[in-house]
Amino acid sequence: MQVLFKITRQQQNCDARVQTYVVDVEPSQTILDCLNLIKWEQDGSLAFRKNCRNTICGSCSMRINHRAALACQHNVQAELDRFSHPSLDLEAVSEEQEAIPVIEIAPMGNMPVIKDLVVQMDQFWQNLDQVEPYVSSASRQLPEREFLQSPEDRSKLDQTGNCILCGACYSDCNALDTNEDFVGPHALAKGYRLLADTRDQDTAQRLETYNQNLTGVWGCTRCFNCNMVCPMGVAPLDQISQIKTEILGQSAIAPSRSIRHRQVLVELVQKGGWIDERQFGLRVVGNNFKDIPGVLSLIPLAWRLLSKGKLPTTFEASEGATEVRALINSVKMLKSPSAVSMSSSPNAPEADQVSPPELESPSEPAFGWTEYAERINGRFAMLGFMMLLLLELISRQDFFTWVGLR
Ligand code: SF4
Ligand code: SF4
Ligand code: FES
Repeated sequence: MQVLFKITRQQQNCDARVQTYVVDVEPSQTILDCLNLIKWEQDGSLAFRKNCRNTICGSCSMRINHRAALACQHNVQAELDRFSHPSLDLEAVSEEQEAIPVIEIAPMGNMPVIKDLVVQMDQFWQNLDQVEPYVSSASRQLPEREFLQSPEDRSKLDQTGNCILCGACYSDCNALDTNEDFVGPHALAKGYRLLADTRDQDTAQRLETYNQNLTGVWGCTRCFNCNMVCPMGVAPLDQISQIKTEILGQSAIAPSRSIRHRQVLVELVQKGGWIDERQFGLRVVGNNFKDIPGVLSLIPLAWRLLSKGKLPTTFEASEGATEVRALINSVKMLKSPSAVSMSSSPNAPEADQVSPPELESPSEPAFGWTEYAERINGRFAMLGFMMLLLLELISRQDFFTWVGLR
């Protein structure tokens, strides 16, 4: 069969262009086979990486039909079944070629192009380095022979140990698109592999590192792309979630804004079925009025909302709030080992009679601000804003700029 390959080609510091090649291929041939045919028979200048041609080395990662994948893992027929469309680029193909199925190839994303499909992966490796991707046994008494692990402990490393560092997850990570400080799904998946390793001694230090605001796990937007594209089933997002669970279980770690974001969100949804926006910012950013710069930083947003008539002043629980609450309680009950053991004990009351455990709530601030903040429903912030506005009008000074809010 004939297939039209549209390949995005680029030289460093030049604009990208799409070049087309029509190739006679067998449906069972891999995309890497097709690229080899193009290079060997049509255009020796086409650059791409390859090595094992067997889904082992991770070299041949590229974007195939708009998602990152290994070129040696997918064959032509599977790719056409997954994503087939006729050529729309009529300038690039002759009339008889219009009906030819198209496969689009582009370099991986989130990395600068060196040439054609070859990308610069320095940042990828540096980010991996940030999670110290090796077992640390610095303070441990070294055994005479090897460190022993039970088969159960070893099996905890199977999934993350499968990573071949191909870069597919990094390429399609939404968070990296907008936050270049985020270490990336590959690094955090490796991070969890080390947390789960019984030989590693740096758990506390690692959790501290992965808890860094937008650099670590809280930078992930949970878009699921990494789970979808990973060719080895590592499921980086699942590993990120495991790290978050470990962080939330650590009483020694102070609740950061990211942690409050998660806790307050669950708490408010449990209460009202959806988020009470009047409280959310004040409790997450303002840390229950303990973070005064945080509270003040909300004022420009409050002003914009107010000027557009979108500042919420009242709150009504959503329809089905009771069901939402029951759902959250059920999940909490499933996750709570004590509740599970209670319901599985022969003497335990029926599952539906077990009182659901309370949701984790953010640690209460001193001086009872939370209760106060809830009672006044955000009017305090509004009052502060009005005072600032009044001061600016009276003094004719650029007051908002002076306090760093404009
Ligand atoms: S986690 Fe998966 S997609 Fe990401 S680098 Fe490892 S093998 Fe590749
Ligand atoms: S789920 Fe998180 S880590 Fe994975 S691709 Fe999306 S933003 Fe990146
Ligand atoms: S060439 Fe090694 S994974 Fe494709």
